[in-house]
Amino acid sequence: MGERMPRGGASGDPLRVGVAGIHGHGATHVAEALRLERAGRVRLIAVADHRAPEIAVGEAAVFADAAAMIADADLDLVVLSTPIHTHVPLARAALEGGAHVLLEKPPAPSSLELEELDAAARAAGRAVQVGFQSLGSTAIDAVRELVAGGVVGEVRAYGALGTWVRAVDYWTRSAWAGRRELDGVPVVDGAVTNPLAHAVATALAVAGARSAHDVVDVELDLLRANAIQADDTSSLVIRLRDGRTVAGALALTASRRSEPCVTVEGELGRIVLWYTLDIVQVVRDGEPFPATTRHPRVSLLENLVSHITAGDELLVPLGATAAFTRVLDAVRAGPDPRPIATEHIERVHDGAGEHLVVRDLERWAARVVAEQATFADVGAPFAR
Ligand SMILES: NC(=O)c1ccc[n+]([C@@H]2O[C@H](COP(=O)([O-])OP(=O)(O)OC[C@H]3O[C@@H](n4cnc5c(N)ncnc54)[C@H](O)[C@@H]3O)[C@@H](O)[C@H]2O)c1
Repeated sequence: MGERMPRGGASGDPLRVGVAGIHGHGATHVAEALRLERAGRVRLIAVADHRAPEIAVGEAAVFADAAAMIADADLDLVVLSTPIHTHVPLARAALEGGAHVLLEKPPAPSSLELEELDAAARAAGRAVQVGFQSLGSTAIDAVRELVAGGVVGEVRAYGALGTWVRAVDYWTRSAWAGRRELDGVPVVDGAVTNPLAHAVATALAVAGARSAHDVVDVELDLLRANAIQADDTSSLVIRLRDGRTVAGALALTASRRSEPCVTVEGELGRIVLWYTLDIVQVVRDGEPFPATTRHPRVSLLENLVSHITAGDELLVPLGATAAFTRVLDAVRAGPDPRPIATEHIERVHDGAGEHLVVRDLERWAARVVAEQATFADVGAPFAR
């Protein structure tokens, strides 16, 4: 493909945007592109999905496949919200076509592929933003400033706590759902690396861990209640280069959805970041009530548009996800998740549909963070 004239910067023309994968999470990208279109910043030129659109796509041309859209729609910016194992080849194709990319998380199935994709983006002179939207929140800087200001004293450790519900049909909605690999290609679709990946990535960001070298070691205890390949009831302890640890309890087998959070455990108290809400609470020892603040968040598509057109700093470049991808490497290369014995699992039918619940999950998850040890090491009966 020949050299393309840049748009949107000096020319002032709205950027030509295409979104691939418009059902599932991709619907939020279509809505955001249409919002930016109304603001005159982009035009939603095309969408692509194997399924015909079931949502409003404005005037966009409809393609049945992402690769065809990238090849034919003459786009400045491609949003990829397709399955994990399609990310790298489609992102490469978009970059080769001269487009910038908003790439859903996890960006790549290995650190090597992440590095290679980063190199391809640099060679093409194009930006890749990774869809960890919690990293677009100013709450992360707010937490880091509180820590630097000594509000909770010396930091002992970090936590990532997420106990959610996923109906059994979540795991059958797509061929790739709950797979560690599909047709020999790594997918790595488990609690740690997909649905609750934001908890891991946000905890690493709060801890200042960005590069792969910031992660020294990952101890995993991956379990599953559902009949899937990947993990749905997971704990891990990440050892960082500065000697601190990040303990995560991440599960899709809770009795109800709790708000997930990232914690900073200090010698004088703790900071809790409710990362989907951008709310920060400082709980200082001896003080009866937490100090609570809420922080603005920037849309990652809007930030990418501003980066392309006005040189704004990119909030989540590929390189910023290298520490997370190092954790993903450990999950991908680690042993298969162990099945949880049926005596610890309850099959529940309620407003969330039919779903599996691991008994006492929340109690043991809290202990994982408090003791910085895995489910097995804190003695959770379902992890024996
Ligand atoms: N940032 C977030 O909060 C968040 C939340 C959920 C999912 N995600 C990510 O979004 C991506 C998609 O996840 P999902 O849960 O929406 O998946 P999904 O399987 O529910 O939906 C994916 C969509 O992509 C379409 N698709 C698949 N291959 C395609 C191709 N080659 N060309 C065009 N369309 C194609 C499918 O038809 C489907 O509509 C994953 O990377 C996931 O990790 C991010």
